[in-house]
Amino acid sequence: MNIIEIKGISKFFGVGENRTQILKEIDLEIKKGDFIAIIGQSGSGKSTLMNIIGCLDTATSGSYQIDNQEVSHLNRDQLSDLRQKKFGFIFQRYNLLSTLSAVENVALPAIYAGQIKKLV
Ligand SMILES: Nc1ncnc2c1ncn2[C@@H]1O[C@H](COP(=O)(O)OP(=O)(O)O)[C@@H](O)[C@H]1O
Ligand SMILES: [Mg+2]
Repeated sequence: MNIIEIKGISKFFGVGENRTQILKEIDLEIKKGDFIAIIGQSGSGKSTLMNIIGCLDTATSGSYQIDNQEVSHLNRDQLSDLRQKKFGFIFQRYNLLSTLSAVENVALPAIYAGQIKKLV
């Protein structure tokens, strides 16, 4: 069974004459245990696709299902829940919270999830 199933996803940025298609009809299936690398030259749309897969952005068109659930049907709270429970995300620019220590940064999602009470 596919954990992630993407069919015909397109993404446009910009409006009017600046409107540009960045992703063109992408299909991708990921099964449990798969190890996937998305490669391509700079500016080819890797980060745009990763942001959509990580539910940080939405596609302009096409279908994206996680565990057979269409992501575009989820509300903001359901998307937050998904990001917290389903994804581990390491950003290119880290996106760490500078006011917290390394351990606190790592512990934060578990605190939000109620798994631990306070920062160690
Ligand atoms: N928010 C945005 N608004 C407009 N254009 C964008 C935006 N994000 C990315 N782009 C453009 O989309 C293209 C793909 O960018 P990106 O996904 O960051 O590529 P990669 O990660 O493969 O280097 C680039 O031309 C970039 O300028
Ligand atoms: Mg990138």
